[in-house]
Amino acid sequence: MHNPKQRIFIQVLIAILFIQTMISCSPEVKPVQIIPQPVKIEQKNGVYKLRGEVSIMVSAEQQDLMGLANYLSTVFETANIKTNISSIDAGSQKGKGIYLTIDPNLERAEEYKLEITRKRIIISAASARGVFYGIQSLRQLLPAEIENEAFANQIREIEIPCLVLKDYPAFAYRGMHLDVARHFFPVSFIKKYLDLMALHKMNHFHWHLTEDQGWRIEIKQYPRLTQIGSIRKETLIGHGGVQPFQFDGKPYGGYYTQEEVREIVKYAEDRFITIIPEIEMPGHSRAALAAYPELGCTGGPYEVATRWGVFDDVFCAGNEKVFGFLENVLSEVIELFPSKLIHIGGDECPKTRWKKCPKCQDRIKKEKLADEYELQSYFIHRIENFLLTKDRNIIGWDEILEGGLTPNATVMSWRGTEGGIAAAKVKQQVIMTPGSHCYFDHYQADPATQPLAIGGMTTLEKVYSFNPIPNELTREESEYVLGAQGNVWTEYMKTPAHVEYMAYPRAIALAEVLWTPREQHNYVDFTQRLIKHLNRLDMINVNYFKEPVK
Ligand code: ACM
Ligand code: ZN
Repeated sequence: MHNPKQRIFIQVLIAILFIQTMISCSPEVKPVQIIPQPVKIEQKNGVYKLRGEVSIMVSAEQQDLMGLANYLSTVFETANIKTNISSIDAGSQKGKGIYLTIDPNLERAEEYKLEITRKRIIISAASARGVFYGIQSLRQLLPAEIENEAFANQIREIEIPCLVLKDYPAFAYRGMHLDVARHFFPVSFIKKYLDLMALHKMNHFHWHLTEDQGWRIEIKQYPRLTQIGSIRKETLIGHGGVQPFQFDGKPYGGYYTQEEVREIVKYAEDRFITIIPEIEMPGHSRAALAAYPELGCTGGPYEVATRWGVFDDVFCAGNEKVFGFLENVLSEVIELFPSKLIHIGGDECPKTRWKKCPKCQDRIKKEKLADEYELQSYFIHRIENFLLTKDRNIIGWDEILEGGLTPNATVMSWRGTEGGIAAAKVKQQVIMTPGSHCYFDHYQADPATQPLAIGGMTTLEKVYSFNPIPNELTREESEYVLGAQGNVWTEYMKTPAHVEYMAYPRAIALAEVLWTPREQHNYVDFTQRLIKHLNRLDMINVNYFKEPVK
């Protein structure tokens, strides 16, 4: 009946219809979206349906996971979903529910496996830390509304896609920093900052606690540090590089009590975040000098700084009292912070006062030092040796490299990656925080459209493009690069909302740089996942910068 042409046409038509039917019959598997991108996701057909009460099970012999079961239950409780936590015998993963378990076969320290079937959700890892990261990935598979009590009652039933996910980080050090000295932020905000870090599997919080413009941690032996040093009489208005200077005329202050510090350290620990406290020396120390003027070369008087920048007045390196003071301060600090690494600053220390100070010059002579730069390394070495007696290691800005270091010291490379490269080549451990990619106080878009910032330009895409391992390093040398960190200096950030605006979403790009294997980085794919992820940040009331993925 049909000519050959017609027959071919009909056959092709039938084939097309057949293929279309096949496609529409195969159950749709929507790609899951998690940030940072996991190493491996194998999606399966089907969903785990979560309704009413959720059972969370922990093996009887793994009771240290109970804390995580409680943590997970708070994720559901926000949405008024009841949870029921129980202990089960080893190997008896039978009923419907979420199982948290330690699996010694997973060897990497932070590795985890998340398996979701129609019946069970199993998070396994070699350590509780890995289980915690598994919980964060599971959390991102739940509707964003679960993050917010006001919206969570809209949730009736949750469908979680079936999958097998294997995951571990590319870098061991995944950090965020916050300067609480230029501006002070309350305990509640520090907790929120830590929560956001945890959501993105970041694990080190560098807490910049002392500065020219304010001393922000209670030290019992030196009450004037907070009575005097935590308050400046006024604050600069506008940009620090524009003269004549104008000030607001209003006193500004704040500090954390030791009790608050303990509370925050515990909060971080529960989220597998190590807090590295920074006590700045020998520079950036005017707040301490205002409190104890005898610690400066001239004897003062000094004022807590009211504008931004680098100041000539620094701790006197020739005065024994200074070392006694810093050792006492650090003794209290290490009682509060279990971190092996203690940050001692070391950056931007002018030598102006030391050049004229008889005590400093005397020290140079007695110690046979070449100049004031060697005096600075003498200073850092003394502090390092003191901390070593307490079983702590120093970490400092890359200036601490000048003059040599013990192998235990870690270098934070901020003036580009050069300091980090030099450090790795002499087998010092390195954290990369170059201004070009990791300074989240820089502009993130055209300054004409942005609130006042210090300068620079670090877009989301630029952060995402960052490779913490510079080309200059051999494979062996690159092992000394532990990771990277986003720095949030707050001269121009007066409020928590503004900190969030500057840190997010750039911190999320950095989190993916540090977690996901480099060969899997894909900026377009990242931004697509980010668009959805930002709904979650909305639910957590994060005031992130919306422009990059609008
Ligand atoms: C720094 O930004 N001064 C470490
Ligand atoms: Zn001096």
